[in-house]
Amino acid sequence: MRGMAGIRNIVILTGAGISAESGLRTFRADDGLWENHPVEQVATPQGFRRDPELVQRFYDERRVNVLAAEPNAAHRALARLDSEWDGELLIVTQNIDDLHERAGATRVLHMHGEALSAWCLACDARHRWTGTLLDGPACPTCGEIALRPDIVWFGEMPYEMERIFAALARADLFVSIGTSGAVYPAAGFVQQAKSARARTLELNLERSQGSGWFDESRLGPASELVPAWVEEVLT
Ligand code: APR
Repeated sequence: MRGMAGIRNIVILTGAGISAESGLRTFRADDGLWENHPVEQVATPQGFRRDPELVQRFYDERRVNVLAAEPNAAHRALARLDSEWDGELLIVTQNIDDLHERAGATRVLHMHGEALSAWCLACDARHRWTGTLLDGPACPTCGEIALRPDIVWFGEMPYEMERIFAALARADLFVSIGTSGAVYPAAGFVQQAKSARARTLELNLERSQGSGWFDESRLGPASELVPAWVEEVLT
């Protein structure tokens, strides 16, 4: 980045790579499996209909992992940016963990849902959930046994798209951190930002699929790249 002159509005997209150093596995490991399961089995509405117990057990395990993980230096650096940046800032995360929030960031939006949230299919209520769903607990709002993980699966609409596109349309700077660029619509945000004339920066372990859209790519671990970039922005 060559200075921050003229930059007020920042949109940051984060993916599994920012939480990798907190011990949470990324999705597209070399074997194409997510924690030993094909993605279609545990991340589609069809998979849930076919075998609800397997899917509930899978997310019960994810919830335990998320609760056990701790934010790393990259989450902490973004939280620092959030508290010290007085222009607009939106951290759009594809991650279902709460490590941005636990590091102290507040301007965070979970476009793919949250591991620590349960969604009632009977009454549409959402509840913070740290326990299990496999045992079929009743919804605290309506009493029905109809809770599912509050996760956006393939084939479902990501959350808050209007707010995200509005922020991208105003963005002066778009930064993508720890995401492979394999899953739309998030993978297309860089193009949206570019058409709004934003500068674009990628911080990732390796080049993402949309790498060619970025003005600049810095390659390395998020725990090193993100604190260094935030330091540049704030000084
Ligand atoms: N620092 C920075 N980047 C890293 C690190 C690290 N320590 N470790 C891995 N990465 C990079 C990888 O090189 C890869 O490009 O993070 C990226 C992770 O990519 P994915 O596993 O595809 O994760 P993500 O892009 O978040 O997946 C998007 O896919 O399955 C769905 O809904 C799920 O939100 C998820 C979406």
